[in-house]
Amino acid sequence: MSAKIIDGKEFAATVREKVATHVTRLKADHDITPGLAVVLVGEDPASEVYVRSKGKLTVEVGMNSYEHRLDATTSEADLLALIEKLNADPAVHGILCQLPLPKHLNEDLVINSIDPAKDVDGFHISNVGLLATGQKSMVPCTPLGCLMMLRDHLGSLSGLNAVVVGRSNIVGKPMAQLLLRDSCTVTIAHSRTKNIEALCRGADIVVAAVGRPEMVTGEWIAKGATVIDVGINRIPAPEKGEGKTRLVGDVDFASASAVAGAITPVPGGVGPMTIACLLANTVTACCRANGLDEPEGLTA
Ligand code: GUN
Repeated sequence: MSAKIIDGKEFAATVREKVATHVTRLKADHDITPGLAVVLVGEDPASEVYVRSKGKLTVEVGMNSYEHRLDATTSEADLLALIEKLNADPAVHGILCQLPLPKHLNEDLVINSIDPAKDVDGFHISNVGLLATGQKSMVPCTPLGCLMMLRDHLGSLSGLNAVVVGRSNIVGKPMAQLLLRDSCTVTIAHSRTKNIEALCRGADIVVAAVGRPEMVTGEWIAKGATVIDVGINRIPAPEKGEGKTRLVGDVDFASASAVAGAITPVPGGVGPMTIACLLANTVTACCRANGLDEPEGLTA
């Protein structure tokens, strides 16, 4: 293996420390405690794990955590009424509605009912538009975490060729916008892209966010390129025993790490950065709401 391992777990801890320092200052100088409200509808097991982890880390950095757990059969009107209440609550600076929502709820409608200034996911249509036009916005947490790691490892990204594999609204599209804003030449590749391997081989940066286990192999990667693996896939691991599974990314780590210059592992790469950036976005939203200076190094 030749690649440097980009340690997302360690990086996320430093981001959370910065957030905690800023929270302490907000309390001491302004008597303000940032608050994050998380709304979970239903009992999706993966969402339960995320929400618990978010709550724990929110409190750990000194912020207030408000959890709202609603029944899977909650009506759209009731969910919208809760969001309206949170929009109007001055103690709440960030609102996150955990996705996916149960099928009977319109996700776009729900997300767009969140006050854009409190939309710490950066999914509201206003924030999407602001990001696309290079204006100040709330930036989606996973792409923000990827950008922080890329800047930390590479310094300036200006002029670099970047390929984003995947075109989701949550990761692929905002990631491409952020890389473009940092003056990369950006290509978004997806399931219909021709010669995807050759395209990736021409890239200084490959961000894999397709949700297909170990799709990007070492043959797709140029020597010395930086590889960011956003995928979290659970696959069968019969070698560990019957019925056992293991976590893998969208990148085949063994072959890619033999040629890449740097690579994020799974687990311990992008994953921990997502929640750290959610906390960073909440403190940013709190500062903006109170007309205060934003913390340095925690926004895009
Ligand atoms: N479900 C999986 N990831 C996310 C995320 O980043 N934000 C929200 N709201 N839901 C998710």
